Amino acid sequence: MEDYEKTLAVIGLGYVGLPLAVEAALKGYAVTGIDINETLLSIINQRKSPYANDKRFEDAIAKVGDNLSATCDFTAIQKVSTVVICVPTPTEHNVPDLSLVESAAKSVAAQLQPGQLVVLESTVNPGVTRDVLLPILEDASGLRIGKDFFLAHCPERIDPGNDTFYVGNLNRVVGGITEACTERAVTFYSNIIDAKIISLGSTEEAEFVKSWENTHRNVMIALANSAAIICDGLGMDINRVLDGLQSKVDQFGLKLATPGIGPGGHCIPEDIHYVIRRARESGIDTRFLDDAAELNDKMPQYAVRQLSFLAKDKGEDLRNLRVALLGLTYKPDISDTRRSPAIEVAYQLERYAKSLIAYDPYVSYTAGLASPAVVAESLAEALDKADAVFIATAHHVLREQLTPELLHDNGIRYVLDGRNMLDKDAVTKLGIAYRGIGR
Ligand SMILES: NC(=O)c1ccc[n+]([C@@H]2O[C@H](COP(=O)([O-])OP(=O)(O)OC[C@H]3O[C@@H](n4cnc5c(N)ncnc54)[C@H](O)[C@@H]3O)[C@@H](O)[C@H]2O)c1
Repeated sequence: MEDYEKTLAVIGLGYVGLPLAVEAALKGYAVTGIDINETLLSIINQRKSPYANDKRFEDAIAKVGDNLSATCDFTAIQKVSTVVICVPTPTEHNVPDLSLVESAAKSVAAQLQPGQLVVLESTVNPGVTRDVLLPILEDASGLRIGKDFFLAHCPERIDPGNDTFYVGNLNRVVGGITEACTERAVTFYSNIIDAKIISLGSTEEAEFVKSWENTHRNVMIALANSAAIICDGLGMDINRVLDGLQSKVDQFGLKLATPGIGPGGHCIPEDIHYVIRRARESGIDTRFLDDAAELNDKMPQYAVRQLSFLAKDKGEDLRNLRVALLGLTYKPDISDTRRSPAIEVAYQLERYAKSLIAYDPYVSYTAGLASPAVVAESLAEALDKADAVFIATAHHVLREQLTPELLHDNGIRYVLDGRNMLDKDAVTKLGIAYRGIGR
């Protein structure tokens, strides 16, 4: 019986599912990871990490031994006590796309056994676990919730690239369809995670915790970007304004976001639209959230326009400048380019600049990006023959290597700092024209 309790299937082995599968395996669970991506399955079965620059995870997956197997065979679900679904929840033109959750739910429903616990970890709007997942599971299996099987939502909070917090020590919230569902899920997560596992009153409340966390972040970034746009318009430096605000932060503990070319990744730009769509369906006014999301989405164009103004101030035209775009990922020190604002910047620069070459220490030419067409293998190659630099991601290696002197020695005449990463005074002292976002 105890052996059966410690069996787990994880559906979807991406940034969320694989770390959970590995953590559970390290905690003594017999884990079957199920995914539809054969290449990924092969990497996992060789005990290699699919993520660049994550030493902690590399060591963890190397240690799982026989406790983890990865397969595309969904019948493995029949043999486990707990099934966790971690498939993507993207948006298409800002409309939530639940098709992958539905398809994973159908695959689980076809194998569902009496007594099993099913948990949805994917980020969704309030109502999806009860209104979308539950009918699929009940209808296809003939089993009944609370009596024959258990269903809960426990949103993931993993933050790829974060050295302090990982799946094993992140606080979690859990909401079940019934009280027994919540209890089963709390027990499961308590076995794996060394942090608070908090029970909420319903699946909807748990769903809203996560989608609101990311909506909050989106709005805070929009607020910072709107302050930066005001600074640009009125000739102030946002960094000095932020230094001033720090004295308030020190005493009152406010949490400030910083301006830039906008948020990216699978979560922050997408999840706000799950909240907006669900609220609108119930006739709730969402204009405040609409404006925040739109402002952030427009930051890449805004920043490219700033580069064009910088050139105009010197009597030049962006159309005659060769631009090096530095950084393609949505945040520093990871290799994830999903919904990265840098990619939108690349589309814009391909259209409006004379030429574009990109460089990212964590993204290779083979990353399958539609844009930019040319990805350099080194920083030196990107800077060679460029007139202007556009900084899109503040990777640590770029912070270290991209000195004002290096820019000067490579004949760079313009810098658009989309992450306010460089020392503006040091750059301009060398005769290089500089604009940041709000400075
Ligand atoms: N990436 C993050 O930092 C993060 C953090 C917290 C929450 N989330 C949420 O977690 C969910 C998963 O995100 P992710 O970043 O891990 O996605 P991902 O794209 O990294 O991985 C998802 C995996 O699911 C697989 N998959 C898709 N459809 C499937 C199916 N029907 N059956 C089996 N496998 C299938 C894909 O092949 C892929 O390997 C999303 O809802 C996301 O919003 C992500």
